Amino acid sequence: MSTNCGRQGMIGQEALLLQKKAMRIDILTIFPEMFTGPFSESIIKRAINKKLADIYLHNIRDYAAGKHKNVDDYAYGGRAGMVMMIQPIADCIEKLKSERNYDEIIFLTPDGYLFEQSTANQLSLCENLILLCGHYKGIDERIREQYITREISIGDYVLSGGELAAAVVTDAIIRLLPGVLGDETSALSDSFQDKLLSPPVYTRPSNYKGWEVPEILLSGNDKEISLWNYNQALKRTEERRPHLLDE
Ligand code: 6GU
Repeated sequence: MSTNCGRQGMIGQEALLLQKKAMRIDILTIFPEMFTGPFSESIIKRAINKKLADIYLHNIRDYAAGKHKNVDDYAYGGRAGMVMMIQPIADCIEKLKSERNYDEIIFLTPDGYLFEQSTANQLSLCENLILLCGHYKGIDERIREQYITREISIGDYVLSGGELAAAVVTDAIIRLLPGVLGDETSALSDSFQDKLLSPPVYTRPSNYKGWEVPEILLSGNDKEISLWNYNQALKRTEERRPHLLDE
């Protein structure tokens, strides 16, 4: 499983010049309303307003062919829990695929591959993505076999559905698109981009109720400050995410 999307290895300005079209993300869900909050604020909202990203929500239930608009059914083999049916999801994916080419069709599932900054970096180079949100005890395996190119989990805990995970993945990708963040360098200095957590930061006042800002940050000595920041980042990473240092 790999994503190239034809632009690997490109850096800032070059990628910006070639980013002719907004990135398009199609999200397939039985709860489209869950996305209205996260997507109408802050950075995602700004990216959409600036036409750097386009997000389309598709209600899987709208594609249910049955009289009762069912989207789930009992599992074959007698296992407990309902399974999302093949037909509504397949019809929705087929319709989208007939309209444009997709770089990846991604299924959000707790048994997927772990989502990391490197995944977000790769996916931010794509033009068209489908995110499929799972529910109940899962989706008919044939959807995964026939359509899905990548399966993503956002961590080892169970959410009620893939929607919150899809919102997390969307946010992590969109903020990387050229032009989305005001200061182009700020995504580069994020935690994880250099496999280190961020150092502590402070702002005025330098003394609040006797709680003082580390003196070095007030010194004006840029070289010493950089070294201090690096050492703080290293210390935090050793304590909280030691595995990042082995990679
Ligand atoms: Cl992608 N889905 C669900 N339901 N739970 C999760 C997850 C996804 N990632 C972590 N937990």
